[in-house]
Amino acid sequence: MAIRNIVKDPDGILRKKCRDVVKFDEKLAKLLDDMRQTMLFADGVGLAAPQVGLLRNLAVIEVDELYLELINPVITAQSGEQIDMEGCLSVEGKNAYVKRPMYVSVEFSDRFGERHTAHLEGLAARACCHEIDHLFGILFYDKALRNYSEEE
Ligand code: CO
Repeated sequence: MAIRNIVKDPDGILRKKCRDVVKFDEKLAKLLDDMRQTMLFADGVGLAAPQVGLLRNLAVIEVDELYLELINPVITAQSGEQIDMEGCLSVEGKNAYVKRPMYVSVEFSDRFGERHTAHLEGLAARACCHEIDHLFGILFYDKALRNYSEEE
């Protein structure tokens, strides 16, 4: 495993759309292992492939005991809402309040190419939405709520 370099905003790669993963091979497994280690080392709860310079449709999230490798993920259901402060390992010195669903169902492939569905809530749902946004070139502050400040 290796810690990879995290791409920082305003690098243009963070604004591009990812391509689906089609090969579930050793190279993919190594990438996922590296991404998990990179995320943990940077003390984040999620990391998407563009953040390590690759336009691949995958991300990892780790919230408490839950670790997920989301490959070709699709949000199939969402409900409720939550408003909380968000940041990003690629965006230094910036945080903002973002509204996200409280619950999401996400369908994804694992590293072997099998499809699964996970039902997430709270911070895990937030992390999932944030990372999937990355796969479309969207950064959290694009969705920042106005009229919200840290003092509130
Ligand atoms: Co991010």
